[in-house]
Amino acid sequence: MLRVVSWITWVTFQLTLVISGVVAKPPNILIFLADDLGYADLDWKDKSLHTPNLREYAFADGTAYLTNSYVLHLCTPTRSSLMTGYYPFRTGTQNGVFLPMERSGVPLDFPFLPQHLSKAGYRNYLIGKWHLGNCKRDFLPTARGFDYFYGYYSAQEGYFNHSLAFYDKHTDSMIGGLDLFTEVRGRPMADHTKNGVYATNLFTDEAIRIMSQHNRRDPFFMFLSHQSVHAPLQVPMQYRSFCNPLIMSKARHIYCGMLASLDESFGQVVKFLKESGLYDDTIIIFSSDNGGDPKAGASNLPLKGAKSSVWEGGCKTTTFIHSPKYIPGFGIRKDLFHVVDWHATLLGAAGVSIAKYGDGINQWPMITTGKSVGLRRNQMVYNIQPPLSALRNNDFKLVYESKGQTVTAGGRARLYHLPSDPFETRDIARQQPKLVRKLVKRLLEFQSVARPSVRTPIDPAGHPMRFGGAFSTGFCK
Ligand SMILES: *[C@@H]1O[C@H](CO)[C@@H](O)[C@H](O)[C@H]1NC(C)=O
Repeated sequence: MLRVVSWITWVTFQLTLVISGVVAKPPNILIFLADDLGYADLDWKDKSLHTPNLREYAFADGTAYLTNSYVLHLCTPTRSSLMTGYYPFRTGTQNGVFLPMERSGVPLDFPFLPQHLSKAGYRNYLIGKWHLGNCKRDFLPTARGFDYFYGYYSAQEGYFNHSLAFYDKHTDSMIGGLDLFTEVRGRPMADHTKNGVYATNLFTDEAIRIMSQHNRRDPFFMFLSHQSVHAPLQVPMQYRSFCNPLIMSKARHIYCGMLASLDESFGQVVKFLKESGLYDDTIIIFSSDNGGDPKAGASNLPLKGAKSSVWEGGCKTTTFIHSPKYIPGFGIRKDLFHVVDWHATLLGAAGVSIAKYGDGINQWPMITTGKSVGLRRNQMVYNIQPPLSALRNNDFKLVYESKGQTVTAGGRARLYHLPSDPFETRDIARQQPKLVRKLVKRLLEFQSVARPSVRTPIDPAGHPMRFGGAFSTGFCK
């Protein structure tokens, strides 16, 4: 069913919200998102790690565990897909991540998920990482559907000082500043008071504080977008006591501690939901934004590749959905799921009658019942951006290598059969020339309708010196 023609028409598809017989209040939705979590990095995959809370809920009654859940290879593209419901090649976010002081953001013609959820009656909260642009106010979380934001705009920062510093070759100098804000009437207000408070604890406490103040007349969407376990490797000593330094590298030992603190956060949030009576009415989603970075202590083994690649280790992630009210018993779901599907899926969970939106499919029926009614995902785009682009067609994956800024004919095609070769070791392109030709043709068709990357060089106008020592907003039009 997903022929190219239909994919292209999706671009112009406009959402009209049809709320099917507003009887019951829609459920609360909590997305608990890890940052840069490796595919191997949970204690049911690597016993030397410590994630007892996540393990308990990953395999509990009321949980659907997705074994074929995919994201993009990097933060900005994944978060842009989650918010817009479109692949990054459609929104211009396919090429790398936004840097601090960059004059870029996700184009404003794409409504974000919380904008649609608010039409269905939701209050929307973002705690933690944004990374979707901040050079002007229109790009900020509270301009794009969130009623409340507390967190940071860029890729990473110190876990204790909430600042980042980097070397700028144009000015041959270090540029540093704070990146911790709340927004008041659309304006970022820097929070200079949290020096020394560990980011994982800070964001957990803030998420709990906001949910406890929430007016229960309305449903909420809480996006707890943690900094952990992204670099830099920093964690309070106490969390490292859960990890054995004799069986892991120094980097992985610290990483293991960071993960233990992330797991504690998950346990605290669920405990809060239970004690406050919100648990029964809340759908809890755990996932990560891309694969792990082995240099920063992560592991994606036995998958090939890592963060920032379209190999499985960069894009396949651990995802589960916990909601005893909607999911009977425990179930493994083997269907393909892609981060672009969350937009339609969560609108579906919110009671909106919707089969698909953007590039995504409403997979809420598949998640809750294990059966797809209506649309089923059998194809997906890993990413379209040289040097490596990749497409999925049922069991087959095309990895296409090309030069230049856009994908062109004449590149090198590799083909893998994932069920028999999940680690992408046997290129079978020569045995399947017809399929390869078909998939390369499709890739070139996608490229022909792709939106050029919106990335720009960094702009000195965004220098923290101009904003009281913080990476702020208001330096682009
Ligand atoms: C904050 O911490 C980061 C990461 O450790 C470091 O790179 C940066 O220089 C620190 N900034 C300040 C102002 O101390």
